[in-house]
Order: sequence, then structure tokens, then C-alpha cells
Amino acid sequence: MTYKGKKINKIYSSAEGYDLWASHYDKTLSFLDSLEGNALNLALRCVEGKKVLDLGCGTGRGIKHLYDFKAAEVCGVDVSKKMLEIAKKKFKNTEFVLADSEKLPFEDESFDVVTGLFLIVHLGDLRKTFDEAYRVLKNGGVFILSNINQRKPPKLKIYNDEVIIDSFYHMPKHVIEALEASFFEIESDELVYEDGIWINQIIKAVKKA
Ligand SMILES: C[S@@+](CC[C@H](N)C(=O)[O-])C[C@H]1O[C@@H](n2cnc3c(N)ncnc32)[C@H](O)[C@@H]1O
Repeated sequence: MTYKGKKINKIYSSAEGYDLWASHYDKTLSFLDSLEGNALNLALRCVEGKKVLDLGCGTGRGIKHLYDFKAAEVCGVDVSKKMLEIAKKKFKNTEFVLADSEKLPFEDESFDVVTGLFLIVHLGDLRKTFDEAYRVLKNGGVFILSNINQRKPPKLKIYNDEVIIDSFYHMPKHVIEALEASFFEIESDELVYEDGIWINQIIKAVKKA
């Protein structure tokens, strides 16, 4: 099989790939933090006292941010069982659910805020997840997401194997268009730059009745 011009054995789904990568993942946390800049901190101010759903929560990097910003209640969702196992050990008072962001097992209008940090790079069809985020948000609820500028998925070295997890590049304007098509109103849309190149997009979108 070839992928982006190179010979590889397999492209892993997020569930399979992150299960394999889970025990290595926390080595990347400070690097991921460094890609968010102040834009995320500004967006996260609104979570104080709120009930928050973190989509693609992984090992809980974003959940730590949510508690730092005084979220009242947090629920984390991920497709990787192993990532969730690590998150569960860190946050005892938090509900974790093994589920796909494209089909959420929650009632309509059950959260004040939905977050998705470094998630959409793994989504081929943004609208499925954005429609679900809209559905589970209360009116006036906020969706905070990031969009890493990653044209090619990294090869993750796991012992002697190289693992590539299925990934998608999303141009910033296409993410905004997809959010608007899912009926969100954009409150802020910030690009984080490094050496004159955008490295991450931080968006705060609102569900207006
Ligand atoms: C790059 S990690 C980000 C983890 C965490 N949000 C963070 O910022 O550190 C992406 C996570 O999204 C999860 N994921 C990918 N596709 C998903 C989907 N459709 N539904 C739920 N989780 C998903 C992966 O399993 C992985 O844990």
C-alpha cells in the first residue's frame, strides 16, 4: 500500500492507532500545549461553572484545562479505549464514555459547552461531528475547537513499528463553512502563528436559537 507517495503496511483508524499510541501519548502534551497560544485561554474563560463535553478527550489534556478554568462538570468522549483508561486514572470525578463524536450517546441540549482539541484532524466529514455537537448543546451553548495545520500525518514510532493514524487536512475557511452549515455562529476565529506560518486555528462558535 502507498500513502502520500510512500510505501506503508497500513493506515490505522483512530481507535486502533491511539490504542497503540496511548502509552506514549503523554510525552507530547507540552508540545500540544505550545500550539494553542493565548487564543485557547481566552476561549476557555466561558467554561466556569458549566457542564462541558470534551470530544476526542484522549488522555485528558483538555480536561485538565477545563478544570483549571473551573468547569463544574466534565464528560470526556473518545474512540480509543486505551486513551480513556489513562484519562480515567487522572480524573476520578469525571465521566468517560467510549463513543464516536459522529454519533453521541447523549440527549439533545444536555451540555453548556462542547470542546474538541486536536480532534478534527481525524475527521473526514466535519459536518457529522458538528451536527452532533450542535444537537447536544443547549441554546446559547458554546463549541470550542482547534484545527492543527497538519498536511501529512506524523509517523508514530512504536518500538520497531511505524504507525500512521488516518488524518485529514482542513483549511481554516472550510472549518468555518462547515460550522456555519451546521447552524453555528462564529464568535471568534484565531490563527496561532509560528515563524509566519499558521500552526493552529482556535474557534469559538455559538448555538443561537
Ligand atoms: C490528537 S488526540 C487529542 C487528544 C486531546 N484532545 C488532546 O488535545 O490532547 C486525538 C484524539 O481524538 C480521538 N478521536 C479521533 N476520532 C474520534 C472520533 N470520531 N470520536 C471520538 N474521538 C475521536 C482519538 O482517539 C484521540 O484520542
